[in-house]
Amino acid sequence: MNFQLTEEQQAVRDAAREFANSELLPGVIERDDKQVFPTEQVKKMGELGFLGMMVDPKYNGGGMDTISYVLAMEEISKIDASASVVMSVNNSLVCWGLEKYGTEEQKEKYLKRLATGEIIGAFCLSEPEAGSDATSQRTTAEDKGDYYLLNGNKNWITNGNTASIYLVMAQTDREKGHKGINCLIVEKGMDGFVVGKKEDKLGIRGSDTHSLSFTDVKVPKENRVGEDGFGFNFAMATLNGGRIGIASQALGIASGAYELALKYSKERKAFGKEISKHQAIAFKLADMAVKVENARLLCLKAAWMKDQKMEFSEQSAMAKLYASEVAMDITIEAVQVHGGYGYVKEYHVERLMRDAKITQIYEGTSEIQKVVISRSILKG
Ligand code: CAA
Repeated sequence: MNFQLTEEQQAVRDAAREFANSELLPGVIERDDKQVFPTEQVKKMGELGFLGMMVDPKYNGGGMDTISYVLAMEEISKIDASASVVMSVNNSLVCWGLEKYGTEEQKEKYLKRLATGEIIGAFCLSEPEAGSDATSQRTTAEDKGDYYLLNGNKNWITNGNTASIYLVMAQTDREKGHKGINCLIVEKGMDGFVVGKKEDKLGIRGSDTHSLSFTDVKVPKENRVGEDGFGFNFAMATLNGGRIGIASQALGIASGAYELALKYSKERKAFGKEISKHQAIAFKLADMAVKVENARLLCLKAAWMKDQKMEFSEQSAMAKLYASEVAMDITIEAVQVHGGYGYVKEYHVERLMRDAKITQIYEGTSEIQKVVISRSILKG
C-alpha cells in the first residue's frame, strides 16, 4: 500500500492552496455576510482547470484522477466552502454525469463548456416533497414524441441562478416507478422555466441555492441523458461520486477549522502560558488531528477505488458520513478553543461551523448514507 502522493497530485494540491489563499480568502467574510456569489473567483477556478478536473482533455477537461480532485476540494473548502460547492456540483454531478452517460452531441454542446467553467451546471433531483425519498418525483416529463413537456418544481438547487444548464430528473411514466424517471438537460432561457426564490441559508451563504419551476417547458428528446427510464439510476450513480466531493468539502471545513485552532492555541496566552500548553486544549487538538486524518483517509480511499474502477458506493457514503460528522464536531471545538473570539466573524471558525452543517444534509443526509452503507454490508 502506497500513501505517497505523486508529484502531479502534490502540485494540484499546492496550486489549489495557493489559489484559495490568494483569491478566495480576501472577501470571504463579506461574501458570506452579504450572500454574494464568488463570480470572479469561480471564473478563475475555471481558468485554472478546477471546474472540469476529471474530464477527458478531449472535452477540455484536466484529465486528472479523483485523488487530485479530493486534494483540491480540501484546500478550497478550508477557505471558502461556498466556492467549493460550486466546484463539487460542476465536477462530480454535472460533468461526470454527462461524460459517463451523455451522447457525443451533448458532450460537444455542453460538456466542453462546462469543463472550462465557461458555463456552470446544476443537478436537480430534490423537490418540495421529495428530498431523501428521491423516487417520489412529482415533476413530470410527458413524452410528446420529439420532445418532453416538463412541469413541476425543484428545491434547494445549488448554482440555481448561476447555472446555464440543469440536469433535471422527472417522472415520465408513473406506473414504472423509478424506472419511469428521466434525466433531461434544460437550458436557462427555455420558455416556461423560471428560477425562483433564493434561499437565505445558515451556511455556504456565498453559494446560490434556489427553487426552480417548470411550466410546459418543451425539452427536445435529444436532451435526454441515457436510455428512456434511466434517470433515477443516473442520479444514484452520479451521487456516488458526488458524495466524494461533499466528503472532501467536509474534510476541508474540518481541517481548516483544526488549522485555525492549532495556530490560535499557540498564540493565545492564558494563566501564564500559551493555551496549547494546557492539557484541556492540547487534548482537543489531538482529537481533532486524529479525526481529520481519518476523514482524509476515507476520502482518499473512496477516490482511489473510483479511479481503480471498483464499486465504491459504500466507501463514498462512509467518507461522506464520517467527514461531515467530523466537520461538525471539529468546527464546534475550534470555536471553543477560540473562546469569545470564535464567536465573531473575523476569526472564520464560526463561519466554518455554520458551513459544516450542510455537509450532513445535502447529497443525502447522514441517515441516507447509513441506508447506503447498511444495505451494502448486509447484502449477500
Ligand atoms: N448507486 C447506484 N445505484 C443505486 C444506488 C447507489 N448508491 N442506490 C440505489 N440505486 C439503484 C438501485 O440499484 C435500483 O436500481 P435497479 O432498479 O436498476 O436495480 C434503484 O436505484 C432503486 O433503488 P432502491 O429501490 O434502493 O431505491 P430507494 O427508493 O430505496 O432509495 C435511496 C434509495 C438510497 C434512499 C435514494 O433514494 C437516495 O440516495 N436518496 C437520497 C437522495 C439524495 O442524495 N439527494 C441529494 C440531492 S442532490 C444535491 O444535494 C446536490 C446539491 O445541490 C449539492
